Amino acid sequence: AADPVKLMKQEVGKAAAALVKSGTIVGLGTGSTTAFAIQYIGERLKSGELKDIVGVPTSFQAEVLAKEYGIPLTTLDAIDHIDIAIDGADEVDPQKNLIKGGGAAHTREKVVDYLANQFIVVVDGGKVVDKLGSIFAVPVEVIPMAMTPVMNALKKLGGKPELRMGVKKAGPVITDQGNMVIDVRFDDIPDPVNLETTLNNIPGVLENGIFVNCADIVLVGEVVDNQPVVR
Ligand code: A5P
Repeated sequence: AADPVKLMKQEVGKAAAALVKSGTIVGLGTGSTTAFAIQYIGERLKSGELKDIVGVPTSFQAEVLAKEYGIPLTTLDAIDHIDIAIDGADEVDPQKNLIKGGGAAHTREKVVDYLANQFIVVVDGGKVVDKLGSIFAVPVEVIPMAMTPVMNALKKLGGKPELRMGVKKAGPVITDQGNMVIDVRFDDIPDPVNLETTLNNIPGVLENGIFVNCADIVLVGEVVDNQPVVR
């Protein structure tokens, strides 16, 4: 039988791809859910239903996928706006605040997603939480030489920091920018707006995975009676 989580991801990816209009600049997010959106955008281009779009990738992964599916790419130096961005998330709360960075791509994602006139978040039902931090730690990208002082500062803030280690790589995960990621668990995140700023104010921190006040639409994939639906 088909994996229900994969089905949900596929369905929201498709729904988001359907929102892309011809002649627009599209931010291309990172992760397994956005990968489906990139695939369907490519298919719409190939069929001729969609014309003249250009993508801005948020990671090396998105860039490779976009090339594979025939989506022309550009960089932020060549454009003055982004019409729509599609990106996944690791957690979404009722205010549409997000935790991102499960794929260590949150720094570039934040640049691209915040620039977009419309930011569409694509998640499966398991990512929806009442309060941010319920299941996921907050990813913090840190420049390597500042690792120890940043770890100490995160502990002082009441967090439990852990250096993210590679799965198929010995040693720490290295981001597309050549930095490391510390995943910080907090017992409670009473004020995500404040925590986002506080974390970024620690010297040596490049960017953290809390995204506030930026998501416009959250598409949630669910499986009802064995059928994938989007709400
Ligand atoms: C990448 O760093 C993340 O922000 C992803 O967008 C997030 O982890 C969602 O990934 P999946 O769609 O694979 O769950």
